[in-house]
Amino acid sequence: MDRIDCAKRKIRTVIAGSRVAEDPRHADNTLEWLLRLEPAAGAGLQLAALAHDIDRAIEEVKVKRADFDDYDAFKAAHARHGAELLRPMLSACGVARDMVDEACRLVEVHEVGGDPDADLLKDADSISYFDVNLPLYYEREGWAETKRRSLWGYQRLSSRARKIVAKISHEEETLTRLLREVIREGVR
Ligand SMILES: [Fe+2]
Repeated sequence: MDRIDCAKRKIRTVIAGSRVAEDPRHADNTLEWLLRLEPAAGAGLQLAALAHDIDRAIEEVKVKRADFDDYDAFKAAHARHGAELLRPMLSACGVARDMVDEACRLVEVHEVGGDPDADLLKDADSISYFDVNLPLYYEREGWAETKRRSLWGYQRLSSRARKIVAKISHEEETLTRLLREVIREGVR
């Protein structure tokens, strides 16, 4: 098997075990959005897209929201831990050292971006939240928390990604209403 395929398979297997219902779909959907935004995305970036939330998949070791006062500090710890988990998985598949370094670096900065590839990953992740995570997040967390999370996510979108999110609609009317509110309030 190809080294990259081996790595993708390993990542998908781990994420399939996540207790967060939206995680498996979100991982593949983030990769799909990445390839829509940038069809020529390199393999390291693709691996990072698939694995960016891998920290959340392993219940015993995952970074817990309750341990942090600050949401951004929690997200930074989540990203750093994801990169730590990913490294040995990629190495075990024989992925070249440079590509391992690049994929792990991107996972570590996926919440904040900062260079063209990291910004693409951040956009793909954020669009995917609105595309596939929103219904399950809402079901679990309710209106107020989902709106807070959505505003946070909307504010980190590039203007290009905001145009894409504006076209997303959900079957459930409540979700479409929430999304409209977020878009209206998030433009500031
Ligand atoms: Fe994500």
